[in-house]
Amino acid sequence: MSTREIRIIGDPVLRKPATEVTELTGALARLADEMVETMYEAPGLGLAAPQVGVQKRFFVYDLGEGPGAIVNPTIRESDGEWLFEEGCLSVPGLSWEILRPKTIHIVGVDLDGNDVSIEADELEARLFQHELDHLDGILLVDLLDEDQAREARRALRELTLSGPPAVRSTSDGGLRLL
Ligand code: NI
Repeated sequence: MSTREIRIIGDPVLRKPATEVTELTGALARLADEMVETMYEAPGLGLAAPQVGVQKRFFVYDLGEGPGAIVNPTIRESDGEWLFEEGCLSVPGLSWEILRPKTIHIVGVDLDGNDVSIEADELEARLFQHELDHLDGILLVDLLDEDQAREARRALRELTLSGPPAVRSTSDGGLRLL
């Protein structure tokens, strides 16, 4: 199984809204398999199609119960607030505490066209919201408060100058990348 290159912040493909998937083809299923491999290798918990340069509305994920995919996802309802240190495979080496709804109801279809309807809480809800943002061209750096944004501009300048760090994830903090 081959893997795909993960696009890094600064790549315009990460900023364009993805388009609805209109047909569940074998090619799409193969792409999803490659995305799962890429996600495991990174390693990360989720990966959205734009992160491998494909502007289609779907993402893959694995929270420890095996890989899943949601095609054309929509958040129907969200509730509560939850602060979580969020990192992203496309923004390597950086993470910020970000407040988002704690629970969501997400709907869509899987790769076989079966309806998906998940009431998600905490990390699972966070993952889905993060991946859905990717489909709308939104990155976590767009969700920062003023102080975080200042720090982010500095860090991103360094990232642009020196390139992404060799090791993507932090092993010490146990940060799980979305
Ligand atoms: Ni991400």
